[in-house]
Amino acid sequence: ARTAVVIPAAGRGVRLGPGAPKALRALGGTPMLVHAVRAMARARDVGLIVVVAPPEGATDVRHLLDAHPLPSTGHTADVVVVPGGATRQDSVRLGLAVLPEEIEVVLVHDAARPLVPAETVDAVIAAVRAGAPAVVPAVPLTDTVKQVDPRGDGTPEPVTGTPERALLRAVQTPQGFDRALLAEAHAAGPAEGEGATDDAGLVERLGRPVVVVPGHEEAFKVTRPLDLLLAEAVLTRRRA
Ligand code: C5P
Repeated sequence: ARTAVVIPAAGRGVRLGPGAPKALRALGGTPMLVHAVRAMARARDVGLIVVVAPPEGATDVRHLLDAHPLPSTGHTADVVVVPGGATRQDSVRLGLAVLPEEIEVVLVHDAARPLVPAETVDAVIAAVRAGAPAVVPAVPLTDTVKQVDPRGDGTPEPVTGTPERALLRAVQTPQGFDRALLAEAHAAGPAEGEGATDDAGLVERLGRPVVVVPGHEEAFKVTRPLDLLLAEAVLTRRRA
């Protein structure tokens, strides 16, 4: 197994409302992060999972993961925990920094996407192994998207454009990369504030090709309280 996964889990989850860091909140009685780690460990090719914890919470996260062992599937992945940074991009960079030499393929997966199906993870790995150096799972949009001129003062925002919906995709994780390319993209990455909101965006800034493979509706990001309700419902259906 020469594939590693970096799981940024250092976010505070402010949009989810008050409580523990988002990745540590329970879903079906199990912390969201544990679901995410298990989803990655299910892929045969994954031999190492690097969990990037809240900066002050690495010890707690280590204990949490030890208390929720991976199911034995005949194949095991090592799980290491490192402290994260102030932004998602920093957290991913800190995770990449601890990968051993032999890793050729890296996935980056949001802890906040705990229910991604195994088939999506496998499809991303397969596309990288087949020669695409940067692969993102994505789904078509259901909403029409408007570009606006944000006012930030509560007054109505003027619309400046409507991109053609059929050409848009909502991107998910795990995003998969040739390890050397992702390292280069993060090394060249913009300073804080010029934020790339995903890893493929950093690769695009290098002018290198990124391709999309089909994502899955159950790979949605648990961001707001309504997403928690949906995630609980998906879990209940899976357990039925
Ligand atoms: O904020 P957003 O929803 O884009 O966060 C996506 C993922 O990045 C989450 O899993 C979150 O825990 C992680 N993150 C992080 N370090 C930060 C901010 C977010 O690892 N400083």
